[in-house]
Amino acid sequence: MQRHSSPLDRLVGQFDHALRTLHGVQRGTGKPSPAAALDDTLVEPSERVRAGRLMRVDHAGEVMAQALYQGQAFMSRETPLRAHLEQAAREEADHLHWCEERLREFRMRPSLLNPLWYMGGWLMGASAARLGRSTNLGLVAEVERQVEAHIEDHLQQLPADDIRSRAILNTMQEEEIQHGQNAMSLGGRKLPLPARLGMRLLSRLMTRGSLWV
Ligand SMILES: [Fe+2]
Ligand SMILES: [Fe+2]
Repeated sequence: MQRHSSPLDRLVGQFDHALRTLHGVQRGTGKPSPAAALDDTLVEPSERVRAGRLMRVDHAGEVMAQALYQGQAFMSRETPLRAHLEQAAREEADHLHWCEERLREFRMRPSLLNPLWYMGGWLMGASAARLGRSTNLGLVAEVERQVEAHIEDHLQQLPADDIRSRAILNTMQEEEIQHGQNAMSLGGRKLPLPARLGMRLLSRLMTRGSLWV
């Protein structure tokens, strides 16, 4: 017999998810890294630091994505939508692992500000979910669009011979585009301009902050 979870169970689940995300033990779908079969051809130490900083920003973006989807799923009243958001979060957890693995190869740590990004993402997701399905999915579409744009920017900036990071970001970019399209086809609506501008500001804070801290 299937047991229905109580609000307290779900709240505990949220804390568990946050801690797993911040400690790098979040469950994904198990999809292997797109970099798995590629040699690490980036040798110049200063270039490795530069690439590592960019990957740290991408990792922080994935931490925020986890929080966003969890906040949305927690507050969403529709069970099928909740299941969809939780599945999307599992796919995002693959991205998180791939970036984390690349950071380890660079011997760099994740952003110290990740708990802050997690909190911001969770509150943003939970607030959107309170505003109903179309806003909730509209937020997903907008976040995915912004993440896709910063991945594109990083693909331009990464050293040409960093083929491992490039493979990871190329796959992530394809999947973020797909996530955004799914959200719109499920009923998302474009968010109003002030909301999009506010999100862009938050995203800029996140990208600048994680680059250095
Ligand atoms: Fe992602
Ligand atoms: Fe995504």
